[in-house]
Amino acid sequence: LFEQSLRPRVLAQYIGQEKVKQNLQVFIKAAKMRNESLDHVLLYGPPGLGKTTLATIIANEMDVQIRTTSGPAIERPGDLAAILTSLEPGDVLFIDEIHRLQRTVEEVLYSALEDFCIDIVIGKGPGARSVRIDLPPFTLVGATTRVGLLTAPLRDRFGVHCRLEYYKVEELTHIVERTADIFSIEIDDLASIEIARRSRGTPRIANRLLKRVRDFAQVQGNGTITADLANHSLEMLQVDRLGLDHIDHKLLIGIIEKFRGGPVGLDTIAATIGEEPHTIEEVYEPYLLQIGFLQRTPRGRVVTPHVYEHFHLEVPKK
Ligand code: ADE
Repeated sequence: LFEQSLRPRVLAQYIGQEKVKQNLQVFIKAAKMRNESLDHVLLYGPPGLGKTTLATIIANEMDVQIRTTSGPAIERPGDLAAILTSLEPGDVLFIDEIHRLQRTVEEVLYSALEDFCIDIVIGKGPGARSVRIDLPPFTLVGATTRVGLLTAPLRDRFGVHCRLEYYKVEELTHIVERTADIFSIEIDDLASIEIARRSRGTPRIANRLLKRVRDFAQVQGNGTITADLANHSLEMLQVDRLGLDHIDHKLLIGIIEKFRGGPVGLDTIAATIGEEPHTIEEVYEPYLLQIGFLQRTPRGRVVTPHVYEHFHLEVPKK
């Protein structure tokens, strides 16, 4: 219940992503004026930036229900058919990790998106026959961290494409203040800024750090989060000045110490530091690429001189 009330429910409560918000506001208003369902929306960008939240907001703003599922959860075309035929007119169907849909499922989705109907094969062998099922108009909101992995035909069937960006420190500060307010947490302005700075541009991280810092404030302080207390707590949490945690450190230091700064392949780094390649690629790398700490080259990952500076190491001469 707490987690639910934390999520903004309407666009007006949503902080940041100004471009996305302004555009969605127009498309939602236009669809409502025409009494139509909203065109299908593709949300993409790194994890933790608010894709699920936005999908819920779209449904709220359109005054419809949202049905939530994910690419890997829809195993067969029949699973998709069951979901689609249970929608009410105008409903939002939210498919997270939409790049992980099976091809056979994806093919059924095409006609559902374009013509609001599906052809389902019933039975097997010589007795098999195809039946057409009409669907109510609906809005697919698809979310992915890997837009490049979507097939062109699927990508092209989304009328609205929204790319979510990392948040600015000012926006994250505002989000930390909003969350503190909801939880009745006393926090000084400078402490909110400090947490925001160390949240890797990501609201999910900002809110998590705020909760952990609050624990320190309760047990080791007087309940109020001051800048000093925030700094001390974040140090205890092994989150550095730039928000890099011990896994970021392991990754970067690993490339420097074991591979002379790279280039090194993803699977090799993953094996060396004992993390999943998938997690490194989706969760850790995007921010390191964004702040210019890491580069992807055809021969693998390379750390940049910024990393040596950050860790007070000498930049090796090539
Ligand atoms: N909580 C998490 N993300 C948020 C956002 N973008 N706006 C407001 N509150 C949030």
